[in-house]
Amino acid sequence: MAERIPVAILGATGTVGQRFVQLLDGHPWFEVVALTGSARSEGKPYAEAATWLLDTPMPAWARTMTVLPTRADVVTRAGARLAFSALPASAARTVEPELAAAGVWVGSNASAYRREPDVPLLMPEVNPDHIALVERQRRERGWPAAIITNPNCTTTGLTVPLKALAHAFGLEAVMVVSLQALSGAGYPGVPSLAIMDNVIPYIPNEEDKVEWEPRKLLGSLRGDEVELAGVTISAHVHRVPVLDGHTLAVSVRLRTTASPDAVAEVLASYQAPEATRDLPSAPRPVMVVRHEPDRPQPRLDRMTGRGMTTVIGRVRPDPILGIKFSVLSHNTIRGAAGGALYNAEWLARYLGWR
Ligand SMILES: NC(=O)c1ccc[n+]([C@@H]2O[C@H](COP(=O)([O-])OP(=O)(O)OC[C@H]3O[C@@H](n4cnc5c(N)ncnc54)[C@H](OP(=O)(O)O)[C@@H]3O)[C@@H](O)[C@H]2O)c1
Repeated sequence: MAERIPVAILGATGTVGQRFVQLLDGHPWFEVVALTGSARSEGKPYAEAATWLLDTPMPAWARTMTVLPTRADVVTRAGARLAFSALPASAARTVEPELAAAGVWVGSNASAYRREPDVPLLMPEVNPDHIALVERQRRERGWPAAIITNPNCTTTGLTVPLKALAHAFGLEAVMVVSLQALSGAGYPGVPSLAIMDNVIPYIPNEEDKVEWEPRKLLGSLRGDEVELAGVTISAHVHRVPVLDGHTLAVSVRLRTTASPDAVAEVLASYQAPEATRDLPSAPRPVMVVRHEPDRPQPRLDRMTGRGMTTVIGRVRPDPILGIKFSVLSHNTIRGAAGGALYNAEWLARYLGWR
């Protein structure tokens, strides 16, 4: 078997960084050669720097790795060809272009570059063709490598069913109410005194992301421009006392009328484009449609398909927009580290590395 591709995790001590460490343990294509953090963690062994929050043990190889400063020269010296970024957007804005300019490919979770016209915002089961934007990015910026991004975690869960519906029936308008898990706010995140026994109807900048990002993901690549999808989206977001798994209540107006049974059938049978179906992190299946009246539920259903499958339930008529349903998506797996890994696998195939 070919040697594994050396990768770095930027922001490895945080909520998403830890998921990367967990999901990259034993990954068939990638091998972690560097973990980075902020000045708080620099120079410490990973086991000391990270407050491990996951229910599988910290991998032995990670425990003793020294947390490095988040700098392009350090990551390059460690030999990484690809860097997974789990940095806050402010830190990502500086270091991600420096890495791409130094020849290290970047798979970013941060929002810093998602809206740039030459940066792919990618989900391999939705818009794998948008990867071609990296050619424009390298040409126009003069970089040997490029940045690819995955969407916001709420956008991720919403866009999977929207893609299937847009393809089958056409899509005009979407109304979404989110119930978002605490892990989406990072660590230490929302203070316990603010969230226990409570719901907070505000997450900074989130509604704007959920109303815009699906339009790029569902948009068409024309030459080296993405034409945004002409769908109107309205989002109401809430933080709720759930650890992992974002729940969405979604109503849609389709271009052609469809019954709830026809919608459920389209969602359950949706497949990723052929080229991305067999990647190691591909969701299997892309969506599951549950028929019980009280599912999906985060505690019971978030690990469906190793946390990569989007779970749908309660497909029914909506008296205003036509159709409504519930969605559950694991925010730190499909919505963050797992999604970035799936993107990087698609990039590795696109570049001929695998
Ligand atoms: N949580 C989710 O579900 C989710 C989903 C999709 C996207 N995202 C995005 O993913 C990114 C990470 O989110 P998170 O929830 O994992 O956040 P987090 O738990 O707060 O972790 C942030 C990480 O970045 C490091 N860091 C912070 N400031 C830094 C700086 N100035 N320079 C270098 N490193 C710095 C931290 O290192 P230290 O521990 O050493 O301070 C930590 O490793 C964010 O951009 C977020 O918006 C998160």
